[in-house]
Formats: sequence, C-alpha cells, structure tokens
Amino acid sequence: MERGRRNLLITGGAGFIGSNFANYWYNRYPEDKLVILDALTYAGNLNNLSLILNDSRVVFVKGNICDAPLVSKILQEYDIEIIAHFAAESHVDRSILAPGTFIQTNVVGTFTLLDCFRHHWEKQGKPPHFRFLHVSTDEVYGSLEIGDPPFTENTAYAPNSPYSASKAGSDHLVRAYYKTYQLPTIITNCSNNYGPYHFPEKLIPLMCINILLGKPLPIYGKGENIRDWLYVEDHCRALDLVIHKGKPGDRYNIGGGNEVRNIDLVRLICKIMDEIAPNLPVKPSERLITFVKDRPGHDFRYAMDSSKIQRELGWQPLESLESGLKATLQWYIDNPQWWQPLLSKEYQEYYRQVYQMV
Ligand code: NAD
Ligand code: DAU
Repeated sequence: MERGRRNLLITGGAGFIGSNFANYWYNRYPEDKLVILDALTYAGNLNNLSLILNDSRVVFVKGNICDAPLVSKILQEYDIEIIAHFAAESHVDRSILAPGTFIQTNVVGTFTLLDCFRHHWEKQGKPPHFRFLHVSTDEVYGSLEIGDPPFTENTAYAPNSPYSASKAGSDHLVRAYYKTYQLPTIITNCSNNYGPYHFPEKLIPLMCINILLGKPLPIYGKGENIRDWLYVEDHCRALDLVIHKGKPGDRYNIGGGNEVRNIDLVRLICKIMDEIAPNLPVKPSERLITFVKDRPGHDFRYAMDSSKIQRELGWQPLESLESGLKATLQWYIDNPQWWQPLLSKEYQEYYRQVYQMV
C-alpha cells in the first residue's frame, strides 16, 4: 500500500483495543489524520485517548455507527481512505443478559459502515488502496476440546453465544461486500486481548482490581476453560501489517500462542500481584479465589493457528504471557484514577446481575 498522508476512520476508538490502536497509530504514523467515531457506551472512555485528543491530527466524533447520514458525512468530510472497525458490543456475559444491542451494533452497525463506505469508494472511482479492516474474534469458530487442532482461517463458523453469533453475522456481511462489490475488505479474527484500558468486566482487569480491593475472584465452573491470550500491542502491530500488506478479500487469524486454563491464569495473576502490589488487603491473594456457577453455553477452549499471518506478513507476537501480564498489572496498580470511576452504580448493578446468572 502507498504511504503518504492518510485519513483513517477508527470506529470504537474509545474502547479497549480501538484506543490502544489509535494511540499506536498516532505515534507510528505522525503524518496521518485519525477520525475516531464512538458512541461512548459504558465501554467507551475518552480518558483512553487523553494522550492524543488535543492534537489537531485527531478528531473525535461522538456518534453511532448505525447512523448512516453521520457515517456518510464523516467519510466525505474527512476524505477517509481506511476504516479500522472496532466498534462493537464486546462482552459475552452482557450478550447473554441482553442480546438486542449486540444485533443492532454488531450486525446493523457493521452493515451501515460497509454500505456507506461502498458508496464513498464508488464515488471516488473505486481506488484500490482503500481498506475496510473488520476486527473480529476467534469465538466465531466455536469451541475446541483438548487435543483438537487450533482454529485456522478455513475452520467452519459455529458461534455459540449471542455475542459470537452477532460477530459471525458481521463477518459474513464483510465477506459478501468483497465478493459482490469487490470492496477492499479484510477480516481479522483474534484471540483474547489484554493490556491497559481494558474494562473491568473482562477476566484479567476484573481479577486485578478485585485483588487490589480485597474482593472475591469469581471463577466460572471449575476454571478449566482455556483461552489464548494476546497482548494488545502485539495485536495492534498485526493490524498495522494487515492494513499495509494484507490481501483484500482475505482473512487472518491472530493469536497470542499463550493457551492457558483460567484457574492457572488467575493463580499467576495472584502470584504477580503478591510480588508487585504494595499493601494488598488480603495476602496471599489466592485466598480470594471463589468458584461460581458456570457461564451458560461457556465455550471450553479457543486456540488460534496464526501461521498464515506469520508466513505471509511476517508477524510475531513479542510479549510473553508473563511479561505482558506484569506490564498490564503494573499499569492497573499505577492508574487507580483510570479504573476507580468505572466502578459506578450501573457497574455494581451489572456485577450483581451477572454473578447471579453464572
Ligand atoms: P470494547 O467493548 O472495549 O469497546 C467497544 C467500543 O465501541 C466502545 O468504545 C464503545 O463505546 C463503542 N461502541 C459500542 N457500540 C457503538 C456504536 N453503536 N457506535 C459507535 N461506537 C460504539 O471492545 P474491545 O474489547 O476493544 O473490542 C474491539 C473489537 O475487537 C470488537 O469488535 C470485538 O468484537 C473485537 N475483539 C475483541 C477481543 C478482546 O479480547 N477484547 C478479542 C477479539 C475480538
Ligand atoms: O476470544 C476473543 C473474545 O475474548 C472476544 O471476542 C470478546 O470480545 C472478549 O470479551 C473475550 O471473550 P471471553 O468470554 O473469552 O472473555 P472474558 O474475559 O469475559 O472471559 C475469559 C474467560 O474467563 C472465560 O472462559 C470466562 C472466564 N471468566 C470470566 C469472568 C469475567 C471467569 O471465570 N470469571 C469471570 O468473572
């Protein structure tokens, strides 16, 4: 792809991965303009962008990806060439409690972006360097047992939760826009990310913050479920390569190569926290581990075969699970002013509902 000054639209750029990506891109490509479109749901947080928001190269628009007139206006006004699409409802437990917004944002929102981008691209004479990067998940492939080979780009879709079904639907739309209109789209399917700015409903930040507060560490079922953890900056480098060197119409799996059982991960978090966090209210923090009812339809194991992106685009994750976790946990210890305001009344209500359900 040609270099030079480019204009990117980053949807969901105030969320966890989107903000890490916006910060990454801002530093890596100082000539590019970033337009960030985010509805600022409970998961969106302008503090995630505090290092870049004041720069004239960055424009923030509060708005919904389902709002076609707004999306079209942004594409035209800022002459957008690349969309990096992160906006979504992203939490499996919330999708079990209330699936409606997942269909709206993940399916209808992705459709809206695709359709507006197609018209914009056609109006410009179908420039081949335009890109629609759709950031999706390994969860669309369903669940593995021990001994099954990892998911490849050819694994059949078998989503099990309302969240993963909505992401699968959006992936199919993205694929269809390439096949039908030749819109230069690329899909990435990645494994569980972790790192700074991760909302404390997800396993790693939740465990870290509960340890700091001396609260129970709820483990679903027996804690034997397996996830493949990917440090968010490694993910951002992968997306950078996909935007620059990925083939339109293709998909790329991105995994951390760190398969671990939840219980072992939580024990590792406890061990690191005991070493690095000062004045913990309960120590050793493993004493806080509490087994709770299992998540309904809980996928047992995810594992990604990332050999395609490694072979074709030369990507490798740089962070080991231990080094990435240490950096992440240290970040939460150093930034209570970031996470304390998130533990709002609404959050407590969500917490009550979810741990009643599981
Ligand atoms: P997140 O929940 O932290 O952030 C989502 C962002 O999207 C928030 O800022 C929110 O305000 C915004 N948003 C939600 N609905 C919107 C709407 N209708 N219009 C505009 N903005 C809206 O999510 P995340 O963890 O950063 O995930 C980003 C993307 O990566 C998602 O598409 C998710 O499916 C995918 N993904 C995440 C992971 C992970 O481990 N977090 C793994 C694989 C794939
Ligand atoms: O695999 C990629 C997916 O990873 C993304 O597509 C999703 O957006 C993202 O939320 C994440 O989904 P998971 O359901 O795997 O992540 P979560 O952090 O919610 O849970 C990780 C594992 O830990 C899972 O097996 C459930 C378990 N868990 C989670 C929580 C919140 C617990 O045992 N206790 C908990 O309190």
